[in-house]
Amino acid sequence: MTDPIQTFSLAQRPDLLPAFLDLYIPWPAFIEPTRLLVEWGIHAHAEHQLIVLDGDTPIARAASLPLHWDGEAQTLPRRGWDGVIEQSATDTYNRAELNTLCALEAGIDTGYTGRGLSQAVFTALRDHARTAGFEYFIAPVRPSGKTEFPEMPIEDYVERRRDDGQRADNWLRIHERIGGRIIALSHTSMTISAPLATWRTWTTQPFTTTGLTTVDGGIAPVYVNADLDYAVYIEPNVWVRHRLTDTPAEEGQGS
Ligand SMILES: CC(C)(COP(=O)(O)OP(=O)(O)OC[C@H]1O[C@@H](n2cnc3c(N)ncnc32)[C@H](O)[C@@H]1OP(=O)(O)O)[C@@H](O)C(=O)NCCC(=O)NCCS
Repeated sequence: MTDPIQTFSLAQRPDLLPAFLDLYIPWPAFIEPTRLLVEWGIHAHAEHQLIVLDGDTPIARAASLPLHWDGEAQTLPRRGWDGVIEQSATDTYNRAELNTLCALEAGIDTGYTGRGLSQAVFTALRDHARTAGFEYFIAPVRPSGKTEFPEMPIEDYVERRRDDGQRADNWLRIHERIGGRIIALSHTSMTISAPLATWRTWTTQPFTTTGLTTVDGGIAPVYVNADLDYAVYIEPNVWVRHRLTDTPAEEGQGS
C-alpha cells in the first residue's frame, strides 16, 4: 500500500459510487446492509458516505446517516441498525434538527483486511462527524467476533475481556481504543426474514427442523419454522458513543 490513504465522501466524488458499491466487504450472504442505503441513504446523504482510496484503488468504505437524538440512551432507535435508517428518513423528511451522525457500516475490502485499517477508517468517519459539526456520533456496533459465540447472550458477550484488559471482541476493542463507550444494548438491531429456500442459498444448512439453529457468520441463532417454510434472524447490537469534543469536562466521563 502506498501512503497515505485518502478519504472522500460521495458528495465530493460522486464518480466513486460504483466503486463504493463494488467493494468486496466480507459480510455473510444473509446480511445485505447496502440495499437500503442504496435505495435511499446514499443519495439523500451522499456527504456522509466515505470511500477510502489507496492511490487510485478503493480499499474501504464507511457509511453513516444523520438523525435527531437527545443524547439519552433510552431514546436511541429501539430497532438498532434497522431503526437508524427508518429514523434518519423520518427525521430528514420532517426537517428535524439532524444533530447526530450514526455510523452504519465500516467495511474493509477483503484484499485489505488484517492490516490495521479498521481503526483508521472509523477514525476518519468520527473526524468527519466532528468537522461536519454534529453534536453526537454514535454507532449500533455489530460485535464481529460474536460469530464464535452465537448463542451467548449479548449482555454476557460484551463483558468479555482479554488478559490485558482490552475487550475480547475485535471490533468493540477498536471502538474502545479510539474512545468509544458502550451506552446501551439492542436485542433487535437487524432483522432478516426469508423463505427457507432463500436461507438454503445463503448458507449450507438444510433448515428441515423447526427451532433455533446457528449459521456461519451469524452473531445470533436463526429461528426456523419448517411448517411455515420461513426463517427469521434477529441480531443484537452494542450502542457505542464516541465523543466529538475533547473538553476536560467530557474526558473520562465514559457513558
Ligand atoms: C471487522 C473489520 C472492519 C476489521 O477490519 P480490519 O482492517 O481487517 O481489522 P484490523 O486489521 O484493523 O484489526 C482490528 C482488530 O481485529 C483483530 N482481527 C483482525 N482480523 C481478525 C479476525 N479474523 N479474527 C479475530 N480478530 C481479528 C486484529 O488483531 C485487531 O485487534 P488488535 O489491534 O487488538 O490486534 C473487517 O474485517 C470487515 O470489514 N468486516 C466485515 C464488515 C464488518 O463486520 N464491519 C464491522 C461492523 S460494521
